[in-house]
Amino acid sequence: RSKQRLLVVANRLPVSAIRRGDDSWQLEMSVGGLVSALLGVKEFEARWIGWAGVNVPDDIGQKALTTALAEKRCIPVFLDEEIVHQYYNGYCNNILWPLFHYLGLPQEDRLATTRSFQSQFDAYKKANQLFADVVNNIYEEGDVVWCHDYHLMFLPKCLKDYNSNIKVGWFLHTPFPSSEIHRMLPSRSELLRSVLAADLVGFHTYDYARHFVSACTRILGLEGTPEGVEDQGRLTHVAAFPIGIDSDRFIRALELPQVKDHIKELQDRFAGRKVMLGVDRLDMIKGIPQKILAFEKYLEENPNWRDKVVLIQIAVPTRTDVPDYARCICTLLRLSFIALPCCMTCIRGLLARFMRLLGRINGRFGSLTTVPIHHLVPKAFPLYLQDRSLEFHALCALYAVTEAWRLIIPCLPGIFSCLDVALVTSLRDGMNLVSYEFVACQDSKKGVLILSEFAGAAQSLGAGAVLVNPWNITEVAASIGCALNMPADEREKRHHHNFMHVTTHTSQEWAATFVSELNDTTVEAQLRT
Ligand code: UDP
Ligand code: G6P
Repeated sequence: RSKQRLLVVANRLPVSAIRRGDDSWQLEMSVGGLVSALLGVKEFEARWIGWAGVNVPDDIGQKALTTALAEKRCIPVFLDEEIVHQYYNGYCNNILWPLFHYLGLPQEDRLATTRSFQSQFDAYKKANQLFADVVNNIYEEGDVVWCHDYHLMFLPKCLKDYNSNIKVGWFLHTPFPSSEIHRMLPSRSELLRSVLAADLVGFHTYDYARHFVSACTRILGLEGTPEGVEDQGRLTHVAAFPIGIDSDRFIRALELPQVKDHIKELQDRFAGRKVMLGVDRLDMIKGIPQKILAFEKYLEENPNWRDKVVLIQIAVPTRTDVPDYARCICTLLRLSFIALPCCMTCIRGLLARFMRLLGRINGRFGSLTTVPIHHLVPKAFPLYLQDRSLEFHALCALYAVTEAWRLIIPCLPGIFSCLDVALVTSLRDGMNLVSYEFVACQDSKKGVLILSEFAGAAQSLGAGAVLVNPWNITEVAASIGCALNMPADEREKRHHHNFMHVTTHTSQEWAATFVSELNDTTVEAQLRT
């Protein structure tokens, strides 16, 4: 039996394209939670439809890119610069993203006039229509279309307008906020109605699904049922489908020689110290300043740890054309925090400022031979890609450094037998896959995960992680102490819980469940009529 075709539609393709000539393109994997999750899906004959992250104004370039992408089963949607500016930088990342993460709507400087809001929303709809056109061109009867994320809330409606028989699912990778937040959005009703055109609507957690249903009942006056939302006899199913990762991919990677080389490098570099790790896109929602302040407080109050613990923070710049993201970088500058990878050089001039500002925390708590916060330089990570985020294998090595660490620890007494820690302090986060990936790489070391209670992952990894309110710097600092001093048996118990979860709730299973439920809902709908 041939596999069912699954058309995955997401703003970003799993590859980014770099132009090497008139008709030649270089393709690279792009970073992001969605990309990581869907890489693991193997049960379906999947095609990806999305934006390649690049402006291609000419026909020759578009043709060549379409051909190159076809080899990777990807189909591009071409968006011009103006649309990208209004739709991606504007409506998606300046309006929907902050609102869905409880940061509110743009104030005067972020949203100059209501007109700019309206033109951004128009561009959003136009972009969604462009995605729908591409899907419609390749659609074959029996295909399942799975739309992803806040970029494409208008897509279910566009697709159903084309053909009401298309099986359409929509999944949100961010939180869906309380209806009290959603109702601030000028386009609140139109967006809800277009999402409701889908047959199945999925969220990471039960709370997000509940918020969505109550937004539909309160704002649209529709009826919420245990299965979803009903409108004039038509039911849109709404449910929680917590995403996972391809855990085997991470576990297998730990055995690769190049990963082992990275581990060795890291071992040498941080020998004699506990390693704490943070990996985030450089985003306001990730709570990076809160994390740094908590670490500073911990060092302030625990002088004996100053030369025994190090925090490695990887902060991958994204969405740098959105003003708030630029501001986010400035906040870190003010904190004199420079633990950023060299891709910061792509933001001209900033690296030099980082170097000059290398200081408050490292100056206060460093010594002649050690500094508590680490700036990752390319030399330490040869696989590091210029102007790109950390390459997959280098990232695996980092996750596993605590494991490597353990190889040194047994010969060291007392304090050095303490574990290593991952610090996830998101102020809000749909799920947070970094926490899952850390757990997957920790089966030897049994490191501790400090996890924000505002990340979706807190609902699945809560029993094994140390949960914190990232706004409470005192509490996060105390959790760092708790994690660094946790007895081995408790670490083991907590890790076991999380490891079992991460290795059994995989991305493959997530996708299979969603698609089979989508198939079921449409069968059910046919029976109803
Ligand atoms: N990631 C990566 N390289 C980096 C930093 C992050 O490949 O330098 C990946 C990471 O492995 C994870 C994803 O980016 O799969 C981030 O997903 P998460 O859900 O934690 O947050 P998001 O960035 O989607 O908000
Ligand atoms: C989050 C979103 C994804 C997005 C990713 C990277 O995970 O949910 O849809 O692809 O961030 O962000 P970017 O704007 O670079 O695609």
